[in-house]
Amino acid sequence: MAEYATLEIEGKKYKFPIITGSEGEKGIDISALRRQTGYITLDTGYGNTGSCKSSITFMDGEKGILRYRGIPVEQLAEYSTFTETSYLLLNGKLPTRNELNKFSVMLNDLSLVHEDMQTFFQNFPRASHPMGILSSMVNALRSFYPELKDEDDDIEKTMPRLLAKIRTMAAMAFKISRGYKVVYPRPDLSYCANFLNMMFDSPVKPYEVDPDVVKALNAFWILHADHEQNCSTSAVRVVGSGRVNLYAAVSAGMAALWGPLHGGANQAVIEMLNDIHKSGTKLKKVIERAKDKNDPFRLMGFGHRVYKTYDPRAKIMKKMVDNYFAKNKLEDPLLNLAKELEEVALTDEYFISRNLYPNVDFYSGTFLRAINIPTNMFTVMFAIGRLPGWISQWKESIDDPDWKISRPRQIYTGPTEQQFVLIDERE
Ligand code: CMC
Repeated sequence: MAEYATLEIEGKKYKFPIITGSEGEKGIDISALRRQTGYITLDTGYGNTGSCKSSITFMDGEKGILRYRGIPVEQLAEYSTFTETSYLLLNGKLPTRNELNKFSVMLNDLSLVHEDMQTFFQNFPRASHPMGILSSMVNALRSFYPELKDEDDDIEKTMPRLLAKIRTMAAMAFKISRGYKVVYPRPDLSYCANFLNMMFDSPVKPYEVDPDVVKALNAFWILHADHEQNCSTSAVRVVGSGRVNLYAAVSAGMAALWGPLHGGANQAVIEMLNDIHKSGTKLKKVIERAKDKNDPFRLMGFGHRVYKTYDPRAKIMKKMVDNYFAKNKLEDPLLNLAKELEEVALTDEYFISRNLYPNVDFYSGTFLRAINIPTNMFTVMFAIGRLPGWISQWKESIDDPDWKISRPRQIYTGPTEQQFVLIDERE
């Protein structure tokens, strides 16, 4: 039986269908609102707006649930690999062993990047942020693979091609920024091991793959693999809705992710912890600053638009960091500081009443530091992890029979009509 919501405007009643998701989420379908009433909705920041129907990721911010294609992220982080989870996101089901092998071989076969791209990399100023370099290079991939005439030409290969090349390009950006020799991908290594080898192998010190680091990096990337309609994924969908090619849409998503309120928060957290550590600022004072509305400072790595409880990714990340540090007998003053800061914040009325908890970025930087990833590469690490999500969401949107170009409306608040005044007659 159809359910409707009734809206009364200027004495007239309108009915709008209620739609229910597979997890019982309710929404009001207002697609006919403007046509029927002449009104639009205003929802700054889209906190109440569903932009699409999607079967990829489910999250419940009140209960702290995150599932990819129905599978809890906790199980994937424990038992899966990033390659397998990418397959799951892209194809909607877990692969058989044969399918996984084929997919892994394909990722390795496609992992080399065009030699001419190195020239490109070399010409970025040394101080360039790797996120700026990588998003430009992802966009440039389109020019290096000109056999793709339009966006859906050989798309089944374009998706793994991007997934395969991004880790090569990320490692290349790092090596070139340091003035080191580029390391080529090796067909005998898994996705994560290959990335680590390209990052850390050198002619003077060959890299030995550490299975603990590989396992932890798999989990790290799985935790970042998708997060439904967040800022960067929405950017991918909005840009992609104009039917631009996948590379351009993902490049836009990467630019969105770079921001410190989004994926850039992992770098911002470590910078914040470093500042506190170096200056010796008391944690109470840090918290006071974060609460002060006249101070732009916010507690980085805290708060989330959707999670009103502990971010499930942060829970897993914190445990993973603890295990990794314990197993390798590591110490990091910034990790201890992060834990103290969390404790102070979580007992403060301001944070309690606003449901502000650590998010995925609060502890992720301490793990990345432990495996020697430089701070300005942190958001790149997030971007590699988010790539299967962006690609899956882009693919879902272009296959959507209800697809429409994204084109929101606005409430205009500028001057009403006025006449042009000639320059000599202006006051
Ligand atoms: N420190 C201090 N106050 C905060 C913080 C924070 N980190 N986050 C939210 N608040 C306050 C905010 O000032 C507001 O207070 P009031 O109700 O008095 O005006 C209240 O909490 C609600 O916050 P909001 O800004 O309306 O929440 P939002 O949903 O618009 O913003 C957020 C979400 C993530 C942008 C925000 O919490 C934030 O800036 N956090 C720090 C940056 C960060 O860690 N970002 C990573 C997010 S997770 C990774 C990802 O997927 O992007």
